[in-house]
Amino acid sequence: MSIRTLKIGPLTLKNNLILAPMAGITNSPYRQIAMNAGAALTYSEMISANGLIRDGKRTIELLQRSECERPFGVQLFGDDPAVMSEATRIASDYGELIDLNMGCPVKKVVRSGAGSALMKEPTKAAQIIRGMRKATRLPLTVKFRSGWTVAEMNYRQIARICEEEGADAIILHPRTRCQGFGGHSNWDHIGELKQLTTLPVIGSGDIKCPQDALAMLTITECDGVMIGRGSYGNPWLFHDIQQLAQGQVPEPVSPGQRLKVALLHLQLYEGYYGERKTLLDMRKHLCWYSRGLTGATEFRAQINRCPDLNAMKSCVFDFFSTEESAPSCP
Ligand SMILES: Cc1cc2nc3c(=O)[nH]c(=O)nc-3n(C[C@H](O)[C@H](O)[C@H](O)COP(=O)(O)O)c2cc1C
Repeated sequence: MSIRTLKIGPLTLKNNLILAPMAGITNSPYRQIAMNAGAALTYSEMISANGLIRDGKRTIELLQRSECERPFGVQLFGDDPAVMSEATRIASDYGELIDLNMGCPVKKVVRSGAGSALMKEPTKAAQIIRGMRKATRLPLTVKFRSGWTVAEMNYRQIARICEEEGADAIILHPRTRCQGFGGHSNWDHIGELKQLTTLPVIGSGDIKCPQDALAMLTITECDGVMIGRGSYGNPWLFHDIQQLAQGQVPEPVSPGQRLKVALLHLQLYEGYYGERKTLLDMRKHLCWYSRGLTGATEFRAQINRCPDLNAMKSCVFDFFSTEESAPSCP
């Protein structure tokens, strides 16, 4: 069926379900949980090529991964071809795949000419991809959007450039830069690229449940799917998609499973970042784990008041081990 191994250059993935890069979210603990749940590939948060070549401590921290995060893709953003080549060379020691970010819509990034702003400069984009290709033997992917605005949709042109310059796969998030993350992603664009290029095409956008993933694979005939926000508090999505593809109805996640994964996430986070950052950052993740469960509103309020990690852990334990926290709606 539509779940199968995926070849990206010399790398063969065990399946075609990929965790999307998400700045501020997909750090090592998040990626480890996604890999455990069945994702075949994860990406770093976007890494500044400038920061990397200057050996910034924070940049190098973003590249750390555990042994279970294999294969791991390092995503770079930047606008200077020489800097991007050098950053690619350095990043190649930290992962099994390199990706060029040509989709980020954030003002600070596009003002510097990077992210989705590169789509407005196809000649420079080509030069960057060419340089990155020369700088690494690792598989190279390029992630881009449909274009800058509806009037400037040049995803077909960018796909051709990727093919000509030696990329190994392309990833399309079919929204324009001006759309940000609003509205719907237009899966027709993914289908069009599949017809246009011989490169593997990975689709990204609006996969919230197993049915969405199989629908994207079937409708667009894309080679793989990338899952972003749909994995918030639901790493089981990777497993459920595979079950559904085999004709099985995915089992609802039990409170016990939820408890186990939420506690593991907390523990991994604490190991990486220490108490203070864990206490702050894990609030959102725990809220996501509680979505749709009875008593979730009160749980969220409690989590936000926890003075330390011990309090947070017992709050998690109490909430997820109660019978009432079974899903309140289908
Ligand atoms: C909080 C957040 C951070 C993101 N950061 C990145 C990033 O660093 N690099 C990137 O290529 N895309 C980034 N994205 C875009 C996602 O990778 C993905 O393409 C997009 O969210 C659409 O997929 P979804 O509907 O499954 O979330 C980010 C998205 C979100 C919501």
